[in-house]
Amino acid sequence: MPWWFFRRRVTNASIDPITSRPLATNPSGHEVVRAEPAQPSSVAPRRYLDTQPYLLPKDLGEVNRLDFQHYVMRSALHGNYLAPIQQPRRILDVGCGTGQWACELAQQFPQAEVIGLDLEPAKAAASLPANYRFVQGDVLKGLPFENDTFDFVHQRLLVLAIPLAAWRGVAQELARVTAPGGWVELVEAGTHVSHFTPAGPATQQFLYLMGQLGALRGLDNEGAVLRSLDLYLHQAGLVNVNRQDIDIPLGDWGGRVGSLLSLDLREAGKAISSLIAARFQMSEQEVLALIEQAGQEWNALQTRYHVVAAYGQKPYGG
Ligand SMILES: C[S@@+](CC[C@H](N)C(=O)[O-])C[C@H]1O[C@@H](n2cnc3c(N)ncnc32)[C@H](O)[C@@H]1O
Repeated sequence: MPWWFFRRRVTNASIDPITSRPLATNPSGHEVVRAEPAQPSSVAPRRYLDTQPYLLPKDLGEVNRLDFQHYVMRSALHGNYLAPIQQPRRILDVGCGTGQWACELAQQFPQAEVIGLDLEPAKAAASLPANYRFVQGDVLKGLPFENDTFDFVHQRLLVLAIPLAAWRGVAQELARVTAPGGWVELVEAGTHVSHFTPAGPATQQFLYLMGQLGALRGLDNEGAVLRSLDLYLHQAGLVNVNRQDIDIPLGDWGGRVGSLLSLDLREAGKAISSLIAARFQMSEQEVLALIEQAGQEWNALQTRYHVVAAYGQKPYGG
């Protein structure tokens, strides 16, 4: 299904209420996202997948950021997973990014076969554990695996990739490939103003712009995915569903994890700064300045950042 199928209505399509500037549209009237900055910039151009709703870039800079982000998440959540898995024989990581999470699981469970699935591979196979394998796939089109295949299915940080209307179906697909007695775990982090407590004006403005941009691709701009993470698992027929809401100190006031998380989120913002600049007819420098201001607010206001992890078990005979 093409990503524009999920495109949702965006409020006030011609004028942006915060910048009061006209929004970019193409001659057909369909809103488009341009990958080029609105004005010349010193920032190197990024590579985006324009056939996918996924908002973040796919390039070497993003590979490095995702690896860095993996260590921040592992540290903030005190481990790689929360589900009570025992000795899984087959593990699947959907939207595996660099494969770092899956490779660590492969090392922790050497008897298991671990598969990382993503739109594109990120690293050369030679550097990866022997019991890890990359499979190319698109979770929005269905997973290329038989029913009841995996003992543990994990999916982390796809809120900027899966349209809101597709979440329920994706959770069902994850449950389908999970073996009876096996576990599905979803981990998602904030992209909405309600996930930054408190949120200063620059944080609010940046999140508003990002939300409007994402909504053009059908992505959640209301904080609905984080609210519904456990509900998706229930709706997929899973039992023993458990949800954990985690608020992580964001900024230098929060020690090492807070500083690293702040750096990661600012880099993630910079990764889409050219898209925001083009869409809202701002200069990229204005967007970058907004991100830096947001970072300062997190320190000054002692902001906390919301992450949700939810897991559930496929019933025997289910
Ligand atoms: C923000 S990264 C998270 C990577 C990894 N899960 C982690 O936590 O480190 C999102 C990943 O999802 C992948 N992705 C986006 N849309 C996808 C889709 N439709 N099917 C499979 N993977 C997808 C992207 O290519 C990217 O690697």
